[in-house]
Amino acid sequence: MDAAALRSEFPVLERTAYLNAGTCGPLPRAAADAARATLATGEADGRAGGYFTSMIAARDEQRQAYASLLGVDPGEVALTSCTSEGIVRVLAGLDLGRGDEILTSDQEHPGLLGPLSGAIAQRGVTVRMAPFAELAEAVGPQTRLVACSHVSWVDGELAPAALGELDVPVLLDGAQGVGAVATRPADLGCTFYAGSGQKWLCGAVGTGMLWIHPAWTDRVAAPGPTYQNLAEPARGLASDVRADAARHDSPALSPEGAAASLASFGVLAAAGWESVLARAAALAGSLAGRLSERGFEVAPRGETTLVSFRVEDPPAVRTRLAEAGVVVRDLPGRPWIRASVGAWNDESDLERLLDAL
Ligand SMILES: Cc1ncc(COP(=O)(O)O)c(C=O)c1O
Repeated sequence: MDAAALRSEFPVLERTAYLNAGTCGPLPRAAADAARATLATGEADGRAGGYFTSMIAARDEQRQAYASLLGVDPGEVALTSCTSEGIVRVLAGLDLGRGDEILTSDQEHPGLLGPLSGAIAQRGVTVRMAPFAELAEAVGPQTRLVACSHVSWVDGELAPAALGELDVPVLLDGAQGVGAVATRPADLGCTFYAGSGQKWLCGAVGTGMLWIHPAWTDRVAAPGPTYQNLAEPARGLASDVRADAARHDSPALSPEGAAASLASFGVLAAAGWESVLARAAALAGSLAGRLSERGFEVAPRGETTLVSFRVEDPPAVRTRLAEAGVVVRDLPGRPWIRASVGAWNDESDLERLLDAL
């Protein structure tokens, strides 16, 4: 599938320069069709039978899809409802308490900061912040975990590669990573990777993943196992929790969402993940260059899909751009407008943004 064919899968792009996958990715036609078909089956035939068995099958397919993208075994991947849920599960499941320190950065999203504040309040852990780029050097004797973004939501900087060399476990918040940049844990050297399905994978809201290094599965307790997480649900209290990462599966994921997410994944996979990642990074780099040429200050960024640039009044600029059919976001309390550039975008979207500015 070439770039034009990929773009044609996304109806929103017919009218809008949609540059906000960092919030929610654009939805391919195939995904909306798949969700509608699943609902129609439930409506027509009832939600036992085919509807129910396809729900179980979709879980396996979704796990396999995410695992293939991460280059890991499906047994190492839990299906969650979002990035934050994966983070919560790691922080709640690790044996951390008073005297233990979690090191994080000054660039984090509330999706990580919320679970960290819970760990402070409920477990008595200490959370210390260091500049994003200096995290690896900031690890101290009390540090039991480093928890930070893989790709900063603020400006698109990448977590320092040196984090992969640390002796302490590293939890990467991959909300702006998975589907946007290369995310093989073996290359990143992390211990946990939490990601979103609704952003760069263009899946349904309420989908996500948590990868756990196999050496750590046993060390992350399942804080609230439900029947989905039991090895033998029929044995009730006598059952163990599942031995694999599915012990952290979210208990009630919608089959409509799973069907949509699988269809979206299929569209992107058909375009080829390597070219999806390369094209998005190249387009984003080109946008950053052109903004600089026009005198905008572009925030320091890595080779990622986010481009943040300084404007006078970000909420007003965002609104004005939306009126011109260009969807970007502002970042509360920060001087930037953030554009999210995907492989589905093209030069016309970038030109439209630049013209509207
Ligand atoms: C870096 C980062 N972390 C976490 C989140 C929250 O993601 P989710 O809604 O999937 O939990 C976001 C959402 O924008 C994000 O950008």
